[in-house]
Amino acid sequence: MSKPIIAPSILAADFANLQRDIEMINHSEADWFHIDIMDGVFVPNISFGMPVLRDIVKHATKFMDVHLMIVDPDRYIETFASLGANMLTVHYEACTHLHRTLQAIKAAGMQAGVALNPHTNVSLLEDVINDIDLVCVMSVNPGFGGQSFIENTCAKVEQLKALITRKGAKTLIEIDGGVTDKNAAKLVNAGADVLVAGSYVFKSENPEQAILRLK
Ligand code: DX5
Ligand code: ZN
Repeated sequence: MSKPIIAPSILAADFANLQRDIEMINHSEADWFHIDIMDGVFVPNISFGMPVLRDIVKHATKFMDVHLMIVDPDRYIETFASLGANMLTVHYEACTHLHRTLQAIKAAGMQAGVALNPHTNVSLLEDVINDIDLVCVMSVNPGFGGQSFIENTCAKVEQLKALITRKGAKTLIEIDGGVTDKNAAKLVNAGADVLVAGSYVFKSENPEQAILRLK
């Protein structure tokens, strides 16, 4: 079992001390920054937008994993590329022409991710899986940090892993929502490659130790 990629979610950081929290991730064993962009339409919450991401990128020294929880994400692909996103993940449920969106993300020089809401079956990706660099399996309903993990996620990860293997794809599996040291090993055993963690990292007394525990 190889070590998972750990992606702390900035949504749970202290926005009045953002540079401090970014430096903590820079110096920690975390691998990626996970950035949650919400529009108040696709999800019932608004997080932060371009000016904040621009300033995060100035200080962050690791891979930028940007998760768009917005309708019609095609409008902003070029913008996020120019801001420094390395992975741009769009929601399956927000894209009418998913294949076209994936090509546009790659043409803009980024890796392309697709997020699935808890009710969305992995089999819907059958025809595009070879075009996807990362599938983000939502283990909570998107929109808020600090929610509890939906247990069905492990079975879903196993199904997705089987699909990726059968299709000979190189797609990474990411889990987003309610990840803690209690479910991390089980998720990695089921086939997860990337673990996003917000509250578990930032609400713990020692965030760097929390990141190590997830590894
Ligand atoms: C939820 C976001 C998550 C969130 C995870 O909509 O996509 O990335 O920040 O937070 P925790 O780890 O607290 O569930
Ligand atoms: Zn996220």
